Amino acid sequence: MQLRQLFDQESSTYTYLLVDKNTKQAILIDSVVEQVERDIKLLQELGLSLCYCLETHVHADHITGTAKLRELTGCLGVVPEKAQVSCADRLIKDGEILQLGSIKVEAIATPGHTNSHLTYKVNDKIFTGDALFIRGCGRTDFQGGDAGTLYDSVTQRLFTLPDETFVYPAHDYRGHTVSTIGEEKQWNPRFAGHSREEFIELMENLNLPDPKKIMEAVPANKRCGNEAKIF
Ligand SMILES: [Fe+2]
Repeated sequence: MQLRQLFDQESSTYTYLLVDKNTKQAILIDSVVEQVERDIKLLQELGLSLCYCLETHVHADHITGTAKLRELTGCLGVVPEKAQVSCADRLIKDGEILQLGSIKVEAIATPGHTNSHLTYKVNDKIFTGDALFIRGCGRTDFQGGDAGTLYDSVTQRLFTLPDETFVYPAHDYRGHTVSTIGEEKQWNPRFAGHSREEFIELMENLNLPDPKKIMEAVPANKRCGNEAKIF
């Protein structure tokens, strides 16, 4: 599998392009609507056909590019089942595998940032969305978020993977690109050395402002990024 990490500066979002080199088929994880032109251009330049747009969760900080990409390429929008969005072409849940050529994407339920959040595992790589960041994690104070649940997801579902597993988050605000499970177990300040209770207290006292786009992004993402009011 070929992997490209793409970055949206405004929302600090990483979008991942997964490619099966033999079939030239591709998957995008967590696309951003403002970057659809960039993504289409890259797909064309590399001679790829986009088959799936995959979401780790319904985002609150940016609008997904899924609807636009689907319109332009005919790809299918794949969304976590528990997100209960009606715009998806296919729903995916814990333990399910999305196969494209030789690429096997395995869904791992990692609720806590949102209640329907999934992490995707491909061989020795995990795409952790907002469940686990490099030396951080997603917030847990809206969209059905729950700190205790996130602690359980990260410590029981992700930190139990081999230490060498590569961690690719949906965001980074400090210039990191990739980490490993071993590194995060040792150095992630939200989890390392903290009990579940300490983590809950820490998360409850972050006092973060709402993301600028939350009012438009959440409803828009429930329509897979479609602008129409009714999908
Ligand atoms: Fe998020």
